[in-house]
Amino acid sequence: MANQLFQIKTHESLVEELQGENRLHRVLGPVQLSALGVGAIIGTGIFVLTGVAAHDLTGPALMLSFVVSGITCLFAALCYAEFASMVPVAGSAYTYAYATLGELLAWIMGWDLILEYAVASATVAHGWSHYFQDFLRFFQVGLPHHFTNAPFDYDLTSGRLNMTGTWFDLPAIVIALIVTVILVKGIRESAGVNTVFVIVKLVIVFFVIGVGAFYVHAENWHPFAPFGLSGLSFFGHTVMGRTGPGGQPMGMLAGAAIVFFAYIGFDSISTHAEEARNPSRDVPIGIMTSLVLCTILYIAVAAVLTGMVPYNHINIDAPVSDAFRQVGLPWAELLVSVGAVAGITSVLLVMMLSQPRIFLAMARDGLLPTGFFGAVHERFRTPWKSTILTGLCVAMMGAFLPLRILAELVNIGTLLAFVIVCAAVLIMRRTHPEVKRPFRVPLGSVIPVLGILCCLVLMFSLPVENWVRLAVWLVIGLVIYFSYGIRHSRITSKRNAAAALGQK
Ligand code: ALA
Repeated sequence: MANQLFQIKTHESLVEELQGENRLHRVLGPVQLSALGVGAIIGTGIFVLTGVAAHDLTGPALMLSFVVSGITCLFAALCYAEFASMVPVAGSAYTYAYATLGELLAWIMGWDLILEYAVASATVAHGWSHYFQDFLRFFQVGLPHHFTNAPFDYDLTSGRLNMTGTWFDLPAIVIALIVTVILVKGIRESAGVNTVFVIVKLVIVFFVIGVGAFYVHAENWHPFAPFGLSGLSFFGHTVMGRTGPGGQPMGMLAGAAIVFFAYIGFDSISTHAEEARNPSRDVPIGIMTSLVLCTILYIAVAAVLTGMVPYNHINIDAPVSDAFRQVGLPWAELLVSVGAVAGITSVLLVMMLSQPRIFLAMARDGLLPTGFFGAVHERFRTPWKSTILTGLCVAMMGAFLPLRILAELVNIGTLLAFVIVCAAVLIMRRTHPEVKRPFRVPLGSVIPVLGILCCLVLMFSLPVENWVRLAVWLVIGLVIYFSYGIRHSRITSKRNAAAALGQK
């Protein structure tokens, strides 16, 4: 059995699979891939989570939080780019883990990626709902209170869960279902819709920076770091910085661990490698272009936001549009709400597009039921069944679970995925030095090692409950693997068949 747990998918078999039946259409070029990246990146993180981070954890030091998270993602992105150029098949980090660390860790990675994509989609659907309701309020339209939010939320000041008096978040359900229908129809249409949304959201982000800059008052940047520049704990014990009322770390690093969510998505480009026209060149270009662009924009937005409004007056639900209301520009508030709704929709499109593709890769390996997760629609050529399942799960989670808890769980899960990818690059270089790497991370092992360390620092800067939630999630995954995947693994069946032939 130990053999099976650590058996790897060979590089040759990955390349061979690319020539097989039932593949997705190759329609995406570097511009579309970068647009998909930006589409996946700029959303709830910058438009919503900046509020809670600046207000409760960082103050104006939010700018530095974005620098720290951005650099961490840059290290991980370089490692993703090396892998994507080397193994250009769907499945992203899951496939990379299968090629290097063995079946068990690949399964753990695939299971972990559900946090990154499906759970992140639910978080994003919540953010969408906040801005959509902000937009409706502008026209004096309000939804019945029961349908406006998840039924409970986490109160950072008391460190407790509070009932919100609502039943569920209706707009989050509606948007998740609309996106599902679009995605079932197909990648080409999805990429087209996405490009429009990406343009709208970039225009709005430039607007926020360009117009907001005229309303910056430098005195709002003092004190720069009211909660300190650190915020690191080790399983519930604060090692550096202040501890909040709920026992959570506070300060610039703690803020970085939250706004990390804003960067999630660049790696989703690697899940589209199979639909890229020239994956070994275009996927690394798409990853790096979108990440670098977003990092610069985020730092600028953080500077403008904290300069426009004193940090303790920043709104927590719709901070960016509300900043314009506070400086007396209601028309700009409306514009930003529209842009945020469009921008967040595109994040949802890409995230919910990526999840079924990971399921597809896992099903092709026999680790998930192929009839369901491996089904590609005859006409649309999309993994339609798992797209619908993903849509339903996102709608349910978005309806009932609070944004902050979802976001933190997504962050810890994604950081773990990044740690594994950085480690896998190091391992692959040792075990397969001969494989062609059209893109190679510079400076030898330095960047993957720094990537692992930075991700761990951010993981430890999240409140400790997240480690417990992550552990529970992984245990559930292991139970599924040992009751299904291990018995249906395609590599094992092939190996057993070859062994049986050899005995005859
Ligand atoms: N980075 C994406 C967002 O902020 C997930 O919405």
